[in-house]
Amino acid sequence: MRKEIVFITTNAHKVEEIRDLADVESKDIAIEHLDYDYPELQLDETEEVASASADYIRENKGMTKPFFLEDSGMFIPALNGFPGPFSAFVFRSIGNDGILKLMANKKGAERRATFKTVVALCESSEKEPILFVGTVEGKIADVGRGEGGFGFDPIFEYEGATFAEMSTEEKNKVSHRGRAFRKLLNYIS
Ligand code: IMP
Repeated sequence: MRKEIVFITTNAHKVEEIRDLADVESKDIAIEHLDYDYPELQLDETEEVASASADYIRENKGMTKPFFLEDSGMFIPALNGFPGPFSAFVFRSIGNDGILKLMANKKGAERRATFKTVVALCESSEKEPILFVGTVEGKIADVGRGEGGFGFDPIFEYEGATFAEMSTEEKNKVSHRGRAFRKLLNYIS
């Protein structure tokens, strides 16, 4: 029998990526989507944000099935880790063009960037969340490229292609979310 697990997010792109990965790698897990906008605390570490969000849902949502959520961020060492925990706000406010402007005079290794996802799994509302972390190292492209994906995908380059130039399956193979979610699937199955 397929194991059912609920993914809580308002981001349909994340659901598409995670369902695609489960389809490719683990046919015995069914991902249900709960489109619920929980308050996201502004904390310094992605791990703390994911844990606090899972605790909020455990306390307020009365979940009867195992569930998980995830928090992601992009970190640019040459900008002291910016936008990091502020990624969602920065994307909404200055967007990819704003990041490209901040990076205008950065060359070579100064363009390095890391994406990080922390998945928080609660096997029941009584249990503390278990965290699965995935990261990927890439660089900020000189200009945005590609039509796929979402968020910072057009400006995040991995081995010559931006995430927005990759198919969902290609992105999942190497992405922060793919890596974190593969750990979750291994744990469940
Ligand atoms: P969130 O808080 O985890 O939803 O993500 C923080 C910000 O990073 C949002 O603006 C997202 O659009 C962006 N983001 C998260 N994951 C990705 C990704 O896989 N590619 C590009 N941008 C992402």
